[in-house]
Amino acid sequence: MKVSRVAAAGALAATVAVTLGLSASASALPTTAAAAAHHPAQNPLDRSLRDLAARAGLRIGTAVDANALATDATYARHVGDDFNMVTAENAMKWESIEPQRGVYTWEQADALVDFARTHGQLVRGHTLIWHNQNPAWLTNGTFTTEELRAILKNHIFTVLRHFKGRISAWDVANEVIDDSGQLRNTFWLQRLGPGYIADAFRWAHQADPRTVLFINDYNVEGINAKSTAYYNLVRDLRRQRVPIHGFGIQGHLDVQYGFPGDVQANIQRFARLGMKTALTEVDVRITLPVDATEGTSQAFAYSSLLTACLLERSCISYTVWGFTDKYSWVPGVFTGQGAANLLDENFAPKPAYTAVQQTLALAGAIGPRG
Ligand code: G3I
Repeated sequence: MKVSRVAAAGALAATVAVTLGLSASASALPTTAAAAAHHPAQNPLDRSLRDLAARAGLRIGTAVDANALATDATYARHVGDDFNMVTAENAMKWESIEPQRGVYTWEQADALVDFARTHGQLVRGHTLIWHNQNPAWLTNGTFTTEELRAILKNHIFTVLRHFKGRISAWDVANEVIDDSGQLRNTFWLQRLGPGYIADAFRWAHQADPRTVLFINDYNVEGINAKSTAYYNLVRDLRRQRVPIHGFGIQGHLDVQYGFPGDVQANIQRFARLGMKTALTEVDVRITLPVDATEGTSQAFAYSSLLTACLLERSCISYTVWGFTDKYSWVPGVFTGQGAANLLDENFAPKPAYTAVQQTLALAGAIGPRG
């Protein structure tokens, strides 16, 4: 079935609306019917997310809690069944992987990479430079500028070479710009100066030339001061021929703040710089207890981010930051909030899960994105 991208955009948006009961527009119905006719043997909503995503030509991923993967068989089954990409939620961060200087603890990260290989999944590496979750020896150490540069270079080379050929994309730099659009005032900036970002990308590319190198942040879904600061930074880095390939849009949303309407336009402007893009950490938190309207808003947010990604070829993956409320980071950080994931704490699907399924099913019926 051939459908123009304009028609596809309209059909996807209409299907999102129908999924959520926002509109009973007849215009979406033939497309939905066509989707069923395309796969008459099985209701698309009986298929796994990864199956539906593969038909649409998109990778769908989840952050993985290493402890849950090792101890909770139901959790592990869902990771394998529903996703074709994984990200270590914590296991590849500096404090996890080099807790003492020169002492690397690969076990949890290796277990995830092995799981991914067994289950036919790609791996996103997360993350090489961040201002959080660094070991005390690093942040409290009294190093000269040159020593700290050497430590950073050595960490990047050691980690990338350890995983070489097994990680398809790396979040090299995470959250390096603040919400006002300035370079975040981290110890990296204070001690190495702004050139640390370009250095990190160059070192990562030297260590593993085949992995796709991302810069990644939150509050950059739509066009705003922060995402524009990223646009300018990326443009300048690419002019200097720094090997930076991808812009990661985390997608940590909260239903009380509404949904940014210009996500697709934001993705498009990064694509025009030659960048890949990805939704890297999608979750949508709610102030508890959840009412039906909030559940519907959450479903809309998940499927709208997904639709923006599906409609742009530059957008290579859509990753949720955990898939079950059982292990979500949200309640520990945002008091009184939670219920941010696709499945509840008993692994039962919410409207958001069905909305993601339906959006993928329609995209797959239109055909793989190439
Ligand atoms: O490792 C210790 C463990 O030894 C101890 O027993 C346990 C007790 O609470 O704490 C463990 O550390 C926790 C760690 O997660 C591993 O579970 C930290 O307290 C906790 O703060 C940490 O939270 C993580 C958070 O990043 C830290 O900023 C979340 O799990 C993780 O989901 C979150 O992920 C970030 C992304 O990396 C970047 N973007 C934002 C996103 C959400 O904050």
